[in-house]
Amino acid sequence: MEFDEGELRAYYADAPDDISLSDIDLTNIPRHVSMIMDGNGRWAEERGLARHQGHIAGVDSLREAVTSSVRLGFDVLSAYAFSTENWRRPQEEVDLLMHLFATTLLKELPLFYQENVRLRFLGDITELPEQTREVFEEGLEKTAAHTGMVFALAVNYGSRAELARATRLVAQDVVAGRMNADEVDERSIEERLYTSGLPDPDLLVRTSGELRLSNYLLWQLAYTEFYVTSKHWPDFSRWDMLRAIRAYQGRNRRFGGVVES
Ligand code: FPP
Repeated sequence: MEFDEGELRAYYADAPDDISLSDIDLTNIPRHVSMIMDGNGRWAEERGLARHQGHIAGVDSLREAVTSSVRLGFDVLSAYAFSTENWRRPQEEVDLLMHLFATTLLKELPLFYQENVRLRFLGDITELPEQTREVFEEGLEKTAAHTGMVFALAVNYGSRAELARATRLVAQDVVAGRMNADEVDERSIEERLYTSGLPDPDLLVRTSGELRLSNYLLWQLAYTEFYVTSKHWPDFSRWDMLRAIRAYQGRNRRFGGVVES
């Protein structure tokens, strides 16, 4: 996606010692960056704060990630906000997160207008509390005509559930005679995933140091480069986004093919 280089340079002025915009090849920016935002709880505990303070601080990081992604010209930024397994957390924390998602989305709508960002959700949002679902639907409606970066938020998302759903949808089409079983191919599955129409992530960022996928985008991450930082999500800044891109640009992507010379 196009970006305004002057605006980008201003945004990335005052560089720290180890990274600056000149370390990045602006002609090789990933199209789709995805993020597992981990460590809000640990960030709060390390500061003697309640866990919810970590989630509230995480909102600021997410806003900065959206802004830096727009400035850098990503086509898609996606982020894992709430998994199908996260319902097992204490009810109080689940309620807080659902409330935070709704209030944050409403509050950030002007940013989505200003930056021409189109919102999308990955996961089954029909199962969310009514207030959260309504705000999400409003966000979808109000940003539907935007033509800039897609911001895809995974909420009530689980990759195995997504694949089971896609399989179910294929089976229904076969049973109804809309397609033959022997026509089922990768594309048939892809078209029925929540990410349908989006490019696969080029880069996956995970904060807090854990080396696992946590049931996130198992299909879509087949050839994605991973960047794991020990920083907790609330400490992830625009500079960490640059560090992640620098690491990505240092990789040799082969997609299962031969090594490029
Ligand atoms: C992981 O930290 C974070 C979450 C489960 C929630 C993600 C939510 C945010 C970043 C808040 C803002 C999001 C939106 C969409 C408004 P954790 O609680 O698993 O941390 P821990 O592993 O240290 O316990």
